[in-house]
Amino acid sequence: MNVVDTDYRFYPADNKADDFYREVVNGLSRFPRRIPPKYFYDEKGAALFESICEQPEYYPTATEFAILREYADEIATHTGTGQVLIEPGCGSCEKVRTLLDAVRPLAYVPVDISCEQLQSAASEIAEDYAWLDVHAVCTDITGTLELPGIFGKEDRLVFYPGSSIGNFEPEDAVRFLAGLAQTAGAGGRLLIGIDLEKDHQILNAAYNDANGVTAEFNLNLLQRINRELDANFDIDAFDHHAFYNSVAGRIEMHLISTRRQTVDIDGHSFEFSAGDSIHTENSYKYSIESFRTLAADAGYKTVDCWTDPGHLFGLYLLEVTTA
Ligand code: AVJ
Repeated sequence: MNVVDTDYRFYPADNKADDFYREVVNGLSRFPRRIPPKYFYDEKGAALFESICEQPEYYPTATEFAILREYADEIATHTGTGQVLIEPGCGSCEKVRTLLDAVRPLAYVPVDISCEQLQSAASEIAEDYAWLDVHAVCTDITGTLELPGIFGKEDRLVFYPGSSIGNFEPEDAVRFLAGLAQTAGAGGRLLIGIDLEKDHQILNAAYNDANGVTAEFNLNLLQRINRELDANFDIDAFDHHAFYNSVAGRIEMHLISTRRQTVDIDGHSFEFSAGDSIHTENSYKYSIESFRTLAADAGYKTVDCWTDPGHLFGLYLLEVTTA
């Protein structure tokens, strides 16, 4: 047997199970109807998202990987080594692998809402990087980030790739990044990936892949509600609808009722007419300049910014100026 000395700890979920129930019932009781995108990521949703990242139309993942690979050493010349590296919303923990050898953190703290995926992804990191302490925290990152109590005054580097910041309204993005500045501390760093504004056809295609994986990901939210909340959504009576809203500067994802129907969720009834929408996600896009301004509003200065030759995606290294 191959015994690997893995310094690995898992901190299980602190999420309350009835948050999901409450947010679904509240979100469907108001107009426009909406459900927060963090609920996409049950075990099946997390796997479907991994599959989205492999679709040819979904350029952000491959583009950001290429930027990270190309500039990992340059990033490390700015950051140095030996920090606590914290990754909120780490998903499969694949992107951090491009950095670990260059940045040589003291410890890696992956944080995610999807506990099954986090447990397997983080333990694989611990196995593959025997020198690295891994402390995986299963929690909803939109709340306050509580780190394991073992950490003290070590330098911190927060890694937030994938342009997940796009899920927030811009003013909420400022608040969220200001919270990460608290986590990173004065002089701490944030390495963040941002999907850039671009040709609308490229954006629309990325959220309407030909294999229908994004549609399946969107519809899985209704399946999850059926599975976990004793609901009776007819999945076949809703369509995936995703489009670039150029006025708001964001991709919107919706689930559209294809007919008149009533849905029951644990005793609550919801009426839908044909064409009625449930708004499931926003994904804001920024220009190089507009994100730099947003980061400044959240208390950071831009140390450096890298992009790909087609300017599809931006990777920013930010430094906390206030904390
Ligand atoms: C994980 C929020 C960055 O907005 O592109 C991908 C989620 N939704 N396809 C994104 C998503 C549909 C993704 N983020």
